[in-house]
Amino acid sequence: MSKKYSSYVCQNCGSETSQYFGRCSICNEWNTIIEEKKNSIKTKKQINRKTEKSKTFSEIEIQELSRVKSGFNELDRVLGGGFVNGSVVLLGGEPGIGKSTLVLQAAANISLFKEVLYITAEESLEQVKIRWERLDQKNSDLKIFAENELSIIIDEIKNNNPSIAIIDSIQAIHNADMDSTCGSVSQVRSCSSELQQVAKESNITLLIIGHVTKDGNLAGPKTLEHLVDVVLNFEGDHISTHRLLRSFKNRFGATLELGIFEMYQNGLKEVKNPSSNFTNKENIAGVATAITNEGTRSFAVDIQALVNKSFYNNPRRTTTGISLNRLHQILAVIEKHIKLKLSEYDCYLASAGGFEINDPSSDLGIAIAILSSLLNKAPLSNSSFIGELGLSGQLRQAKDIKSKLEESIRLGFKNILIPKTKDNICVQFSKEINIIQVLNINEAFNISLEINL
Ligand code: TYD
Ligand code: MG
Repeated sequence: MSKKYSSYVCQNCGSETSQYFGRCSICNEWNTIIEEKKNSIKTKKQINRKTEKSKTFSEIEIQELSRVKSGFNELDRVLGGGFVNGSVVLLGGEPGIGKSTLVLQAAANISLFKEVLYITAEESLEQVKIRWERLDQKNSDLKIFAENELSIIIDEIKNNNPSIAIIDSIQAIHNADMDSTCGSVSQVRSCSSELQQVAKESNITLLIIGHVTKDGNLAGPKTLEHLVDVVLNFEGDHISTHRLLRSFKNRFGATLELGIFEMYQNGLKEVKNPSSNFTNKENIAGVATAITNEGTRSFAVDIQALVNKSFYNNPRRTTTGISLNRLHQILAVIEKHIKLKLSEYDCYLASAGGFEINDPSSDLGIAIAILSSLLNKAPLSNSSFIGELGLSGQLRQAKDIKSKLEESIRLGFKNILIPKTKDNICVQFSKEINIIQVLNINEAFNISLEINL
């Protein structure tokens, strides 16, 4: 009989210790360490595949990647052009955000021309059928299998040999060879590595769904990120209908690519023109339109600011969709270089729809929204703002300025403020568009709020 021993595994970061601690010494989380029993005698597995000799680069032949389109352009773009055959994709997201819905819709589209096996470990066949009917799907040959025991799932995958196998979700699958409970780090690790092995042997694309914890970590699956080829995250808040799909790792495409969806009563729909969802093109005090880049795409987002005289010793500063540190930095630059005493004012900042903005070239839009609210004066009409604000008040070159200008023009903005550039970028655009190159925050302030200090 094999002897069993225990190890203590942190369920947040996956680190192992030989004794129990209340707090993980690696990720510093409290009460995340649990005891997991393991068999000490490992049986040596027979390796029955042909072993190959080492090769030089000239001897290695590259096969062209063949991809399967999901029927959702947004999903395909985030994947780098569709699911690569034989790849392993991890889709994470908070419970209830819409992972199963997205995957079922994509699976239904793909099953019209490829064999797809959808393994549901969380819901019964009836529940999946109810969702299916709600989604108004066309007839398809999608196969559903409700099971949570790993060995049975592997047999079913081998028997069906589909092009794509979907596991919903990895935390609900159980490997009977291990004592630990479903969803623990060791279960998640062992189930996914066995599934991945089966998928790679038979060239099956494997799509694994994993739930994330509140702080954004993939509980358990975080420890699998190195195993898989693509890591996607589906995010959004439960109040708004927008859902964002981001790629954090992609061996076959760009990372930090973004796809935007909207959740309706009958499933997810793609948002093909995101700018129209995030900008109203109103000309009111406290609102300025920034052009931001997410992945390879540019789009316009309204920045709203509310600047009010403070009644506290420490003025209040809050942000939605923008980092608080960025706000502090921009306020400090305005205070120093335009010489306005913002330390006496509360400042609330929000992007339209709470859209998370990471591109520093939206700094100028943020600064103009703040100044416009402070003066209670609308910025230059029909204008958009592009540019990163340096600490010395100068405007720094923005990344992908050409695609940002194109998006601005497509949306019909007539005045576009950009940082001063040496390249003659404006020549290629129509004379009717007023591209204004500005050197620093003072110039931008004077032009956009038509003020001469
Ligand atoms: P679901 O895909 O089950 O989330 P996850 O798999 O990430 O846990 O989505 C559940 C939520 O989506 C639930 O709150 C209901 C809502 N929903 C819709 O609004 N419209 C729909 O067509 C469907 C299927 C679900
Ligand atoms: Mg689900």
